[in-house]
Amino acid sequence: MRAVKVTYYKKAFFLLLAAIFFLTLSACTKKDKTNRKNQQENSFESDRLILGFSQIGSESAWRTRNTQSIFEAAEENNVQIIFDDAQQKQENQLKAIRSFIVYQVDVIAFVPIVETGWDNVLTEAKEAGIPVIVVDRQIDADESLYAGFLGENGFEEGYSAAFFLTQKCKNRNSRINIVEFSGTENSSVATERANGFRSLIQTDPKFYIVHSEDGDFLRSRGKEMMDRILRDNRGLYLNGEPIDVIYSHNDSMTLGLLDSLEENGISSRNVIIISIDAEQKCIDALVAGKLNCVVECNPNLGPTLMELVKKIHAGEKIPRVTYMLETIFTENDDFSTYTPRGY
Ligand code: AHR
Repeated sequence: MRAVKVTYYKKAFFLLLAAIFFLTLSACTKKDKTNRKNQQENSFESDRLILGFSQIGSESAWRTRNTQSIFEAAEENNVQIIFDDAQQKQENQLKAIRSFIVYQVDVIAFVPIVETGWDNVLTEAKEAGIPVIVVDRQIDADESLYAGFLGENGFEEGYSAAFFLTQKCKNRNSRINIVEFSGTENSSVATERANGFRSLIQTDPKFYIVHSEDGDFLRSRGKEMMDRILRDNRGLYLNGEPIDVIYSHNDSMTLGLLDSLEENGISSRNVIIISIDAEQKCIDALVAGKLNCVVECNPNLGPTLMELVKKIHAGEKIPRVTYMLETIFTENDDFSTYTPRGY
């Protein structure tokens, strides 16, 4: 009787084990099917490489062209962009990059409005295994936190501006007073354009930077600053000294200061004006004799960005720094065969 009971319990136990085994197996198969289904569904989308791109805003025609260039190149390269416009705020950029990480995009690219404050978010991207390309402006962070930089050489741009000035003034021996309209405080480009410019003019003691002010790369600020100088000094003077040169870190501020001079009935031919970007409106002003020199800052970096994005995605290394090719336009140029800028 006891032996029968043991055999009965044994049988029941094995039946139970078998039931558990089959239930688990069918659950696994179901799960695998669902996973595969998800993978299949995703694979239609993931055919396209996904790039999370955080742009700082649309403060200038230059910036608008910069964004367009990236979108056009993405389209041509079958790259899907998840875009965020940070409205000139670093906190918005940090949020956008974090959302790209949650979304698990393939690559992140961003234009850092300022140089510092990126370490934590870049560490998060690195931990999530998402490579990052820094675009247009440089950052002050450990190099291991991002794959590389693509953009302009701001130091060179500032140096080119100074080179034009030193050549133009090579026969002048008297003191030359310079007012500088600077770009966004703590942005790499503002620092580089200031440093590049100073690196050359400081070799000649006749050049003095008598005033430097942050105009945030905005046309409205360029006008405001010029209005105030003209009002407080009753003309193109500062502390009783004539202003000989205005060095403006971008075309938007330059267009603003030109508006102000015009409104105040002052000819811009009374002062040497040097600008950076080469927007069409400033080239037109150069041709019309309202400006003396425009150093190009090339916004058309979309095609190169897509090349880098695809390389990184394919597991290849990209250069630490890729600079865009840039030129310089001056009052001495022949514009008869010139191709319009498109921005
Ligand atoms: O970072 C590039 C600069 O930013 C451009 O010179 C300017 O126009 C823009 O706002």
